[in-house]
Amino acid sequence: MVNIAIIGGTGVYNPKMLDNVQEIIQPTEYGEVKVMIGDFEGTGVAFIPRHGMGHSLPPHLINYRANIMALNQLGVQNILATAAVGSLNYEFKPGHIVLANQFIDFTKSRNSTFYDGGEKGVIHCDMTVPYCSELREVLEKTGSQIDIPVYNGGTYVCTEGPRFETAAEIDMFKAVGGHLVGMTSVPEVCLARELGMCYANISIITNFAAGISPHRLTHSEVVEIMKQKISDIRILMIQSLKHITENKECDCNKILEETGVNT
Ligand code: HPA
Repeated sequence: MVNIAIIGGTGVYNPKMLDNVQEIIQPTEYGEVKVMIGDFEGTGVAFIPRHGMGHSLPPHLINYRANIMALNQLGVQNILATAAVGSLNYEFKPGHIVLANQFIDFTKSRNSTFYDGGEKGVIHCDMTVPYCSELREVLEKTGSQIDIPVYNGGTYVCTEGPRFETAAEIDMFKAVGGHLVGMTSVPEVCLARELGMCYANISIITNFAAGISPHRLTHSEVVEIMKQKISDIRILMIQSLKHITENKECDCNKILEETGVNT
């Protein structure tokens, strides 16, 4: 059993920071998932590159249900998920690391629940605080110990992609309270929550968003900033691992108690 998983977003494609990495194929009812499993100082860690090894999968075609179900079947309780994002304000600048604590969902066409009715039933999962507060605290404290500044809190606006936004969309996202814009955190975090798993989003600001940036957006500027930050992100995640205990006090795994699922 593996207790912790890393989901690598854009620019985080291999589990270099882990030892003894082996690749397995985990079958799920939503499809097979290639998962790499390694360890760091005796702690087992699973790794999935969200977009595939060579960034071959766009955000709207990722099989989020299979990925999260596969991790759940392997025994994972804690997920650290990286994400490249645009910034909606001048406070968060390219290169900054922000732990989202809220999201606003503007996706359009994704399977966002394991409970599709019929035999599976219907549930309405609490999403008041979607990202695990205890994992965020661990990441924030670890960051300050190793001198990697981490901002704890920010609202992630999730778009459908794969296109970037219009300047008018970004104006609207700012007006409704968004701080970061990306294309993947929803439904990933929702699915993890439906299975009672703890999930932290590690957003890396790669650009000012459309209309805030002085120039047109390109994927290569996103990739370039990720290259500059990859070493910090790896160190932050790996150093945080030892502070993630099996008996956490958050209530992520109790979320569905009232429905009788996952209890
Ligand atoms: N918008 C959406 N997704 C992103 C951006 C952006 O500006 N930058 C990196 N991922």
